[in-house]
Amino acid sequence: MLNTTEENRRRHPLHPDHPVWLFGYGSLIYKADFPYLERAPASISGWTRRFWQGSHDHRGTPKNPGRVVTLIESPGTLCAGMAYRITPDVFEHLDHREKNGYLRFSTPMTFHTGEQENGLVYIATADNGAFLGEASEQHIAHHIAASHGPSGSNADYLLQLAEALRELGAHDAHVFHIEAALLRTGQPHPTKNSP
Ligand code: SIN
Repeated sequence: MLNTTEENRRRHPLHPDHPVWLFGYGSLIYKADFPYLERAPASISGWTRRFWQGSHDHRGTPKNPGRVVTLIESPGTLCAGMAYRITPDVFEHLDHREKNGYLRFSTPMTFHTGEQENGLVYIATADNGAFLGEASEQHIAHHIAASHGPSGSNADYLLQLAEALRELGAHDAHVFHIEAALLRTGQPHPTKNSP
């Protein structure tokens, strides 16, 4: 299976004493299973969230991958998420968690106060082996309803993300349309804090 862990270590050599910002836009918004020094809502510009990435290791299996979010370039669009200031050793854990096709990129981030910082963001680009690509929101909802993996159901991932975005006051039509379509299929409500 594709594994981006080594590539991520090579791409961004980090100074062990210098904390860095991480921007999360998917499960990293609602599941902070790592230590952080600070956390604050933020957004990045020029990207939009899409359920176009396959999950072979968390919300699906190698045979039946689930669908999780990645970012697609979209000039003029703001993507809301959560920024965490972390010490570089935390990337050991994060690179493993995000190993299924995600690479670290550097991005400017804007906080709600208007302040800006540079951060790292995990993006699964279209050329990665786990990329599933575009599909209708109805199709994605059915795919998600049928997918499960070691970290739990794919439905939980979607419902927890939608809830976290509402808590941030962020409107994401793609996520909310898929959530509505999923709920029409009669999926159960998410179990809180499932990994
Ligand atoms: C992220 O949350 O920033 C990356 C995608 C994911 O882990 O769901």
